Amino acid sequence: MHKPIVLITGAAGFLGRHVCAALGRRGWALRAVDNFSAGSREPLPGAEIIEADVSTAAGAELACRGASAVVHLAAFSSVPRSLADPDQARRDTEQSTLELIRAASARGIGRFVFASSSSVYGDAGMPPVQEDSPLAPKSPYAQAKLASEVHLRQAAPALDAVCLRFFNIYGPGQRPDATYAAAIPQFCRRILRDEEVTIYGDGEQTRDFLYVEDAALSVTAALEAGRRFDGAPVNVASGECVTINRLVALVGELAGRRPRVRHEGERRGDVRLSQADVTRAKSWMDFQAAVPLREGLRRTLAWLSGH
Ligand SMILES: NC(=O)c1ccc[n+]([C@@H]2O[C@H](COP(=O)([O-])OP(=O)(O)OC[C@H]3O[C@@H](n4cnc5c(N)ncnc54)[C@H](O)[C@@H]3O)[C@@H](O)[C@H]2O)c1
Repeated sequence: MHKPIVLITGAAGFLGRHVCAALGRRGWALRAVDNFSAGSREPLPGAEIIEADVSTAAGAELACRGASAVVHLAAFSSVPRSLADPDQARRDTEQSTLELIRAASARGIGRFVFASSSSVYGDAGMPPVQEDSPLAPKSPYAQAKLASEVHLRQAAPALDAVCLRFFNIYGPGQRPDATYAAAIPQFCRRILRDEEVTIYGDGEQTRDFLYVEDAALSVTAALEAGRRFDGAPVNVASGECVTINRLVALVGELAGRRPRVRHEGERRGDVRLSQADVTRAKSWMDFQAAVPLREGLRRTLAWLSGH
């Protein structure tokens, strides 16, 4: 018997590679699609690889052909980058969702897992935020994620989408050297090299960090859940929050170095406090993050030491 094909868009990116590995272990046949605008061309073992831009009708149709399910991770995945180029952010993040909804609906694909983001909450709700907390996107990136969620809700019941609102994901494979690199790989790399780290604002802003293998397992849980979602959002996070100051101190402790810190002004688009209520993920998808921050950072430092 043929294995069912799952399309993974943005498969060559940081999360995509871990998602491919997790889905491959679950017995899915993998169709990995990426336009390589940010993803790496390193091999993706066991996957059929297609180079395509899923923000175009032709790209989305090619990607969906023969697939039973979709995991849509492709996006212009950075808040500061989206402030610099809002048009491209909208195309790669919202337009790609629209094109995939069309192509997937035309082919009778049911389950559609979408990588949304905690950024849709902005600073509106009091943490820990629940899925029905107020929404106030502060950047074109967050706006495009929220618009995508709305399109996916409107595509129900033909399409049964779930919008995973990922909080900050970190772990092996996340590059520290990209122009808009995320905080944890930058902190780890610079502290390992005894270089100064930059903290934007006073460092008392909080984040809810999720280890990347947990994030990948949440995708398999969403894909295989025996219930309908009809476009509903689900927070995916650890449920714990940490200040950026504490995070830097922890990385220093694990790396055996004393961090040298420089403060700069707050960054436009950044939220102040971020922490998820993760009750829905547990009750709807039986998903709970398993890797504590200290252990995840230890693994990240080990990976970065060899790269
Ligand atoms: N990393 C996080 O902390 C985090 C947090 C919340 C949500 N997310 C979301 O999870 C998803 C994966 O994040 P990531 O960190 O792996 O990002 P990433 O930038 O590493 O991966 C995104 C991938 O999408 C590809 N891509 C972009 N536009 C495309 C297009 N039009 N057609 C085909 N491919 C395209 C890029 O080349 C890249 O490989 C994104 O949707 C992101 O917004 C990530």
